[in-house]
Amino acid sequence: MSKVFLIASGKGGTGKTMFAVNFGALLSAEGKRVALIDMDLGMRNMDLYLGMENRVVFNIMDVLTGICKLNKALLKVRGFDNLYFIAASPRKDERRITARHMQALCDILERYFDYIIIDCGAGIGEPLEASVGAAEQAIIVTEPEIASLRDADTLASWLLDHGMRDSWMVVNKVDVDLIQEGIVPDMMSIVNNTTTPIAGFIRMDKNIRISTNRGVPVATQTGTPLHQLLQQIADRIISQDAQPAF
Ligand SMILES: Nc1ncnc2c1ncn2[C@@H]1O[C@H](COP(=O)(O)OP(=O)(O)O)[C@@H](O)[C@H]1O
Ligand SMILES: [Mg+2]
Repeated sequence: MSKVFLIASGKGGTGKTMFAVNFGALLSAEGKRVALIDMDLGMRNMDLYLGMENRVVFNIMDVLTGICKLNKALLKVRGFDNLYFIAASPRKDERRITARHMQALCDILERYFDYIIIDCGAGIGEPLEASVGAAEQAIIVTEPEIASLRDADTLASWLLDHGMRDSWMVVNKVDVDLIQEGIVPDMMSIVNNTTTPIAGFIRMDKNIRISTNRGVPVATQTGTPLHQLLQQIADRIISQDAQPAF
């Protein structure tokens, strides 16, 4: 049976798209068929992080408004056997995406894919509102900053109010020096102060920045500590009898 994930955050720039592409890359490496959907309408980045920017002709808006068929916008990601993606529209426009649109799209994709990963923009906006009902599980990506954590909690409550019963939190851009200096909350206090189970902590790592700029998900570099960590987080999220990290 297939599963739809929603990647969201309260604050911007927390690493949602980075996580979405790596999660998708790891699942596809296990032989799963994965569709990534960029729903950061007007602020798309996923095409860049996948090195696919020159291949995009049609986007999600074109599919949902009937300008093109799904197979024209669903692109196979170069270098992967089972990883596909649909780009967001490059501009925000007046055409509305509704929950019915997203449900219909996911219903079709679920026939062909094991996992569908919807990457939303920051905060609570129309794309998130349209997507929440189509997804089975949310992954909230936050930074270990007090404002980002508070917004992540606010988002978790919003998701719950909108019927999302199953959410994980990924704490990204962890800076050990700042924790040691007592400037940002440490991992235990984050765990103790959130009700959302934490799937894992990802350190600030320049290899991530290099990979997003190069357009190759960092999780493709097998045998590295970062690959191992991302794999652990992906396994924890996917495993049926999921146990929180702490
Ligand atoms: N753990 C990390 N360490 C270093 N840089 C990171 C990390 N996670 C993400 N980044 C960088 O942060 C920037 C924003 O990431 P992105 O995934 O686009 O965030 P969002 O989708 O939440 O806006 C990118 O330049 C990315 O390379
Ligand atoms: Mg993004």
